[in-house]
Amino acid sequence: MITCKCLKQSITILILEELEDYFSFTTVLNYLFSYICLTYKFFTKQAQCLPVKVLLSLIQIYLRAEKKRSILMKKPENHIFVIFGGRGDLAMRKIVPALYSLFVQDLLPARYAVLATGRNEVTDDVYQGEVRAAVDAFSAENDRSRIKEFADTFRYVDLNPSVAETFTRLSSALAMTRSLLGIDGNTLFYLSVPPELYTDISDHLGLKGLNAESDGWKRMIIEKPYGHDYDSATSLNTRLLENWKENQIYRIDHYLGKETVQNILVTRFSNGIFEPLWNRNYVHHVEITSSESLGVEKRGAYYEGAGALRDMVQNHLLHLAGFVAMEPPSSIDSTSIRNEIVKVFQSLRPIKTEDVHRVAIRGQYTGAHVRGEWVRGYREEVHVDPSSITETFAALKFYIDNWRWGGVPFYIRTGKRLPTRVTEAVVHFRETPHTLFSQNRECEGCNQLIIRIQPDEGILLKFGMKIPGAGFNVRNVNMDFHYADFASERIPEAYERLLYDCMNGDTTLYTRSDAVLAAWRFLDPVIKTWNNNHDIPVYGYPAGTWGPDKADELIEEPELTWRYPCKNLADDGVYCEL
Ligand code: BG6
Repeated sequence: MITCKCLKQSITILILEELEDYFSFTTVLNYLFSYICLTYKFFTKQAQCLPVKVLLSLIQIYLRAEKKRSILMKKPENHIFVIFGGRGDLAMRKIVPALYSLFVQDLLPARYAVLATGRNEVTDDVYQGEVRAAVDAFSAENDRSRIKEFADTFRYVDLNPSVAETFTRLSSALAMTRSLLGIDGNTLFYLSVPPELYTDISDHLGLKGLNAESDGWKRMIIEKPYGHDYDSATSLNTRLLENWKENQIYRIDHYLGKETVQNILVTRFSNGIFEPLWNRNYVHHVEITSSESLGVEKRGAYYEGAGALRDMVQNHLLHLAGFVAMEPPSSIDSTSIRNEIVKVFQSLRPIKTEDVHRVAIRGQYTGAHVRGEWVRGYREEVHVDPSSITETFAALKFYIDNWRWGGVPFYIRTGKRLPTRVTEAVVHFRETPHTLFSQNRECEGCNQLIIRIQPDEGILLKFGMKIPGAGFNVRNVNMDFHYADFASERIPEAYERLLYDCMNGDTTLYTRSDAVLAAWRFLDPVIKTWNNNHDIPVYGYPAGTWGPDKADELIEEPELTWRYPCKNLADDGVYCEL
């Protein structure tokens, strides 16, 4: 009788332990408590060992869940979060909503405050109203019930980044807030301002001693563009290092905060099946596309000085290539991962000036009808020079000269006003050495692994299968994993993850200065040649198409072309099919 009862109880405990894998630990606890209550109600007289065993199991599960939780979701240390450019677009669209997400997940410090700065004089009340509106408009969180409570943690300080004296106000506000909260000097400064102001802010913070770590850590997040070429990036770096140490500077590249970009590491290094094939012997070429359907919108002034190469390739896409191409890091810590990325950048085969016209294609969108609506060309956009030659499309072919990738071409392209918004990395595996089924090949694009960064985040493997029936007809089929299948898990916004990491002092997903400089060094010949040699055309492409046809010529082999994730939109009626 006792044995039978204990067997049942063991099974019960096993089931409870299983539950822990599927639900959050609080849910499991709730189940457990109700279970114990029920057990007591109905079985008190018979069940002698059950309560003890269940309680032990409960404590075990709780401790394990708590351990997991504390590994994954450590609350950052108390600190003050300062935003320069607190009323700007980036702050309102990205930073504030990301902070709100951390707030509702209880991932902000026990004691913290946000000090937003801007040039205009605005009261705390007005600013808090703007924060509430920003969360309302841009937050992905379903829980809106805590917006007011969240906004109340914001204070506003008017300050002109170029005028040192105005930093006294920030200094006093910091001192007052710290003493109100009863916390030490930990402070995170987010520079959400035009890059021309980085050195002023850095110097002025230094002047007021706000960078000093004697009373707690000080960190500074800097947005791209980090310089506009190798020389300017080097001098920016030197200037910042006058007041800050490298480990205090967090250069944000929001692509690294994307869940799917991080998943490239997991896909490659937690599965035995891909890595043996991930090299020159089995990979024919690698293709990375990041297309946007929007134009430059209101950012004409910035974009005129940037262009697609600086805006997307120098940072986001080269880093994506770095994740695809890197060697396995010796461990999952920041230094090891960032070392491997830098090694990839240092192995990029330099592009010779005389080859630029062959390996780099630039384009600019022109006005066209898209889905029946007229879309204006780049030169007609606000704050854009009507004779501008700034590229809104860039495509590049390059090589990574190391043992893994020697001879494997990498193709990168990005553009605005393309048919759809999609970012993907495609690994094209080599064909079989001997084609048995050549007479009936319907297998164009077989043997591709497509890592979909966005939207519809996931991984798709394409390979050939026999079509049922007579003969050996082959068809391309898909094995498709969608992140959405993790139904219970929300994909965090990139900024949310990156801010959280910075608050915890984790630099893994931030760009190190040597990586930034190596990326500029690689692209400098293209930038300079495009600037100086006006014989190199800027190819026009109608809005809603996949960029200039000329970009197809980068892929030199016959029968090979870019992967087109969906059709052009420019021909009315032919809609994008992802
Ligand atoms: C930014 C660029 O860094 O990335 C923008 O400045 C671009 O021009 C944006 O639109 C794309 O980001 P995402 O996350 O939408 O792919």
